Amino acid sequence: MSDSSARIAAVHAAEVERFAAAHPRSRELFECARGSLVSGVPMTWMAKWVGGHPVYAASARGACVEDVDGHRYVDFALGDTGAMAGHSPPATVAAIERRLRDDGGATLMLPTEDAAWVGEELGRRFGTPLWSFALTATDANRWGLRLCREMTGRPFVLVFSHCYHGSVDESFVTLEAGARPRSRAGNVGPAVDPTTTTRVCEFNDLDAVERLLADEQVACVLTEPALTNIGIVLPEPGFHEGLRAACDRTGTLLIADETHTLSAGPGGCTAAWGLRPDLVTIGKAIAGGVPIGAYGVSAEVGERIAALDDADLVDVGGVGGTLAGNALSLAAARATLGEVLTAEAFELMFALCERFVAGVHEVLAADDVPWSIVPLGARAELCFAPEPPRTGGAAAALHDGPLEDALHLFLLNRGVLITPFHNMALMSPATTEADVDRHTEVFAGAVAALAGAGADAAVAPRA
Ligand SMILES: Cc1ncc(COP(=O)(O)O)c(C=O)c1O
Repeated sequence: MSDSSARIAAVHAAEVERFAAAHPRSRELFECARGSLVSGVPMTWMAKWVGGHPVYAASARGACVEDVDGHRYVDFALGDTGAMAGHSPPATVAAIERRLRDDGGATLMLPTEDAAWVGEELGRRFGTPLWSFALTATDANRWGLRLCREMTGRPFVLVFSHCYHGSVDESFVTLEAGARPRSRAGNVGPAVDPTTTTRVCEFNDLDAVERLLADEQVACVLTEPALTNIGIVLPEPGFHEGLRAACDRTGTLLIADETHTLSAGPGGCTAAWGLRPDLVTIGKAIAGGVPIGAYGVSAEVGERIAALDDADLVDVGGVGGTLAGNALSLAAARATLGEVLTAEAFELMFALCERFVAGVHEVLAADDVPWSIVPLGARAELCFAPEPPRTGGAAAALHDGPLEDALHLFLLNRGVLITPFHNMALMSPATTEADVDRHTEVFAGAVAALAGAGADAAVAPRA
C-alpha cells in the first residue's frame, strides 16, 4: 500500500469510528428498517452513503438539515438538485397548503390554472414554447425519446459515454477501452441489450457525432449541455454549435436535459449559452422538492407531435401517467419558479458558488494539492486532477472511491454534506456566506488530513 493510500485508509477508519459514536439513533433506525425495507432504506442507493448507514433526517429548512441524533448539517447536496430551491421554501409551502388544504385536490385528472402558467414560464426561460409534465426527469426523458422515435421513424438514439439521464434504458451504454459500446456495468435486467437501441460516443467528440449521425438512422441526441453526473465535463468551444449543425444536417432531433444544468441560470445552459434544442427535459428542482418532470418542445416539434395521428399519447401508448401533471406538483412549481428560483436568486447563488470555488482554490493552493474544481453557475464539483477532464471516459478514470469516501465522511462528521457518489456542492437561495465559509474551513482540514500536509485534522470533529 502506498503512503497516500495508507493515509487515506487511516483517515477513513478514524472517521468511521467518529461517525458510529455520533450517530447511535440513526444506526438504530437503520437496523430496525432492515426488517421492512430492501437494504434497510426507502431507496436502495441511500444505503450507499458513507459511514455504513445513512444519517436519518429529522428536519430540514433552507440549506440546513438536522438529523435524529441532533446534529445540524450545512446541506450542499440538496437532494442532488431536487432541493435546489432550499428545503421547504416558504412560498412553495404556502402554495402546497393552499392547494391541498384550502382548495383541495392533489390529483384530479383535470387541469388547473397553474399548469399553463408553469408551461408559459418554462417556455420563457428555455425558449421551447410547448410543455407537458411527468413525475420525474427520468420519465420526461423516456417520453422524449419515444416521441422522437415516433416523429422520425428512426430506431436509434445517441448518448454520450458516462451520461446519466435517470433510469432510462437507452442511456445505459458506455464506451469501453477500444471505444466499443457496451451495456453499462451493473445494468439491471435490461429488456434488450442497449447497444441495439443506442449509439454512444464521448462528449466533445464532434467527429464521432458526425460519423454516428451520418446514416440518418438516429432519431435524437439526448445530452446534458454539460455532463454533471461524472463530475462536471464542460463543452469545449464550438461543441454545441457543431452538435446542432450535425443534427440539422441529418434531420436528427436534439434533446437538452437541463435537470442539473438548471444551475447555470433561470433558463439553464440553454438560455445562458444560447443553445437551440428541439426538446428540453427537466425535473427535480422546479417544484421545490415535490416530484415533477417536464418536457418542452419547439413549435415545429409541437406541430409534428400534433400530426402523429396513430400515436396514442396516453400511458397505454407509452407516454404519460395518471399522476403526471397533477395539481399539487404544478401549484408547487408555480410558486417555486415564480417566487423562489428567480433571476435574483440565481445571482445570489452564483456569488455564493464563486465564494465556494475561491475557498477551495485557496485551500488547494496553500497545500499545493493538484486537484481542481469546476463551477457551473450555482454548482461546483471537485476533481482529483489538476486539469478537469474533457470526456466522460476521462472523468470516470479519475474516480477514486477510497479518497472520495474519506473526504465525504470527514466533511459529514463536521456538519457539511456534499452530494453522495460525487463531489458536488450546490448553492440554494437559502445558503449563506457563513455556510460556504464553514465548508472552506472543514475542507482545509480534510485536505490537510488526506492530501498530506498534516496527519491530524485541522478542524475538530463535533464533540
Ligand atoms: C441529468 C439528469 N437527468 C435526469 C435525471 C433523473 O431525475 P429523476 O431521478 O428525478 O428521475 C437525473 C438524476 O440525477 C439527472 O442527473
